Amino acid sequence: MKKFYHLLIIGWVLYSPKFSHASLIEEKNCSACHRLSKVEKEKKGPDLFYAGNKYQDTWLEEYLQNPVTLRKAGTINNPDFLKRELQNPQQHPILNKNDALNITQELMLMTLPGLPEEKINPLTKGQIAKTKYEFERTFSCISCHQSLNLAGKPRGGISGPSLVNAGNRLKESWVANWLKNPKIFSNKSRMPVYKMNNETRLRFTKFIMTLKKENLR
Ligand code: HEC
Ligand code: HEC
Repeated sequence: MKKFYHLLIIGWVLYSPKFSHASLIEEKNCSACHRLSKVEKEKKGPDLFYAGNKYQDTWLEEYLQNPVTLRKAGTINNPDFLKRELQNPQQHPILNKNDALNITQELMLMTLPGLPEEKINPLTKGQIAKTKYEFERTFSCISCHQSLNLAGKPRGGISGPSLVNAGNRLKESWVANWLKNPKIFSNKSRMPVYKMNNETRLRFTKFIMTLKKENLR
C-alpha cells in the first residue's frame, strides 16, 4: 500500500502540469516583458508571438543562455534599457541549457497563420555591392541599424536593432515579409515603411541574410 502511494506521488510530480514543460514560458513569466499574443498591450521587450516565423532556432537557444544587447537605445516601451544595461550587462533572464532548449521549442510553435513563404535566389557579388550602397546611401537603413562595412567593422545607428548577426538570427522569409508589410507584426513600429519594388525588397532581404558575426573583424 505504501508503495502505491509512493508511485502516486511520483506520478503526480512527473505529470502534474505545473512541472511539465508544456508551459515553461508561463512558468518563467516571460510574458511580464514580452507579448505572447497580438491582443495584449505593448510591453518592454520585443514581441514573441510570431517568434517561430522570425528567429532561427539555434540562435534562440544560444541567446536564452547568453543574452546579448541588440537594441542599444532600448525598445519603444523601455527606452532606458541602455542605462540599466550598462550597469549590469546581462540583466536579461539567463536560462540553463535544458530550459533554453524547451523554451526554444515552445517559441518555434508561435507563428502567424498564412504568412507567405518567400524564396530568393543567392546574390551575385555585384548585387551585394549595389545593395550595400543602397542600404547605406539611397535608403539610409544604416542610420538606424548597425551592419558591417567592407572591412568587417560594425557601423551604423542604434535606434533600430543591430543587424550585424541578422543572417544567423532571422529567417529569410520573415525579413522579406517585414520589409513588405511591418504592420502585420506591429502597429507601433518606429521604422519607416518603404515603398520598395519586389526586386529591391528581395535583394535587401538576401543582403541582410549575408550579415553574420563570423564576418566581424
Ligand atoms: C524584465 C523584462 C524581461 C523579461 C522578464 C524577459 N525578457 Fe526577454 N527581453 C527583454 C528586453 C528588454 C529585450 C531586448 C533586449 C535587446 O534587444 O537588447 C529582450 C529580448 C529577448 C529576446 C531576443 C528577441 C529579439 O528580437 O532580439 C528573446 C528571444 C527573449 N527576450 C526571450 C525571453 C524569454 C524566453 C523570457 C522568459 C524566460 C524573457 N525573454 C524574459 C526583456 C525581458
Ligand atoms: C528611422 C530608423 C530606421 C530606419 C531608417 C530603418 N529602420 Fe529598420 N527598424 C527600425 C526599428 C526601430 C526596428 C525595430 C522594430 C520597430 O520598432 O518597429 C526596425 C526593424 C528592422 C528589422 C527587423 C529586425 C528585428 O530584429 O526585429 C529589419 C530586418 C529592418 N529594420 C531592416 C531595415 C532596412 C532594410 C532598412 C532600410 C531600407 C531599415 N530597416 C531602415 C528602425 C529603422
